[in-house]
Amino acid sequence: MTVLGSNFDELWPSGPSPEVVIVGAGAAGLFAGIEAARNGKRVLIVDHAKKPAEKIRISGGGRCNFTNLETKASRFISQNPHFAKSALARFGPWDFIERMSAHKLTWHEKTLGQLFCDQKSGAIIQFLLDDLEAAGGRILMECEISEITKPDACFTVTTNKGTFRPASLIIASGGLSIPKIGASSFGYDVAKQFGHSIVETRPGLVPFTFSGALHDRFAAISGVAAPVTVTTQDKTRFSEAMLFTHRGLSGPAILQASSYWHPGEAITLEYLPAERVRSELTHARNTDPKKRVTDWIVEYLPGRLTADIFGETGLRNQIGTLSNADIDRLAERLSAHTISPTATEGYRTAEVTVGGVNTDELSSKTMESKLCEGLYFIGEVVDVTGWLGGYNFQWAWASAHAAGEAV
Ligand code: FDA
Repeated sequence: MTVLGSNFDELWPSGPSPEVVIVGAGAAGLFAGIEAARNGKRVLIVDHAKKPAEKIRISGGGRCNFTNLETKASRFISQNPHFAKSALARFGPWDFIERMSAHKLTWHEKTLGQLFCDQKSGAIIQFLLDDLEAAGGRILMECEISEITKPDACFTVTTNKGTFRPASLIIASGGLSIPKIGASSFGYDVAKQFGHSIVETRPGLVPFTFSGALHDRFAAISGVAAPVTVTTQDKTRFSEAMLFTHRGLSGPAILQASSYWHPGEAITLEYLPAERVRSELTHARNTDPKKRVTDWIVEYLPGRLTADIFGETGLRNQIGTLSNADIDRLAERLSAHTISPTATEGYRTAEVTVGGVNTDELSSKTMESKLCEGLYFIGEVVDVTGWLGGYNFQWAWASAHAAGEAV
């Protein structure tokens, strides 16, 4: 017997059929499978892809940023900002670390509480598969679901690999990002079928694209990175690195901001606080009037960005020639540059989907539907979206733990 395969008869020992079917062998589905199987349930995870957990594999540049030590509900976007609290409180970053450590996996903190696996992301997938196997769960890959109904106390799940009649059905099919590796609208469709509403979905943690002059300017300095504070229209602020690209803007600060951005809205870039620009340039005007303005800016920003910003001002490049109004203009340009992205790169490159199954209709303790007994939604398909930095996997583990314990 093996834990993973694409043939049900080889996978499942003859005998009782699965009591719990989980759709999606990603982060949330595998973890819920472990928890439910450890509770003594007969668990079958089904997935239409060829391989399980492809997003774990490609995450964190291949090293999987599996959690964040700063995990708290305020690091998640949801129509109900309190929804995630219960699950996160009952299964936090250290709980996951304990599971990894049992397999001798080690980790390091990169920045801002972000924990990465020293043994690469494949080792995380392997430990999840090992735990699932040890608990008795099974994964059926290349399994296409054609219909789900609930004629009685059990669901009828019709697939190309057989029909299953579980009492509990956990939807862990993820969001819409990266369709190339298996993302689909399946979870939202099932939710709607059972009467749930969906909080409007949009790509999150995704680069911005620009058109016209801004596109050309950003493309000309693509590859340049700079520290910045990005403020979105709702006044959310992120201070991290920003990267210029051939299409527009990327880097952690931009990816974070994108989850709070709606089409048509502007964002504001602050490279330096206005007060510092004013005080340092006013001081330098007296003490070092021959100094070039660009030599001052370049103390803080890369040369190509400095040239781009200063070129736009049309000022003379000597601090002694700056009037108070000129200094104000520079302060404004460096501290509050407001621009409007044309769009984002969309689900093709987005790390997550913002929005999803409305949390008002789910139990925050168990993730069970309030509308259909035995139906659960976990992971990214739910309207809970983490910041960049391991929060989305932590939500997958925590929500999976809640449902896996409850079934
Ligand atoms: P996930 O998407 O992992 O799994 C869903 C599964 O359902 C897939 O296996 C899919 O094939 C299956 N499925 C979909 N439709 C189906 C259908 N119709 N029938 C059957 N099966 C179906 N987060 C983080 O915290 N740290 C990080 O480092 C990264 N890095 C990262 C990099 C990149 C490139 C991306 C795209 C994303 C990240 N993320 C991340 C986000 C993280 O990967 C994501 O939030 C979790 O994988 C979500 O876990 P789920 O199990 O909910 O969905």
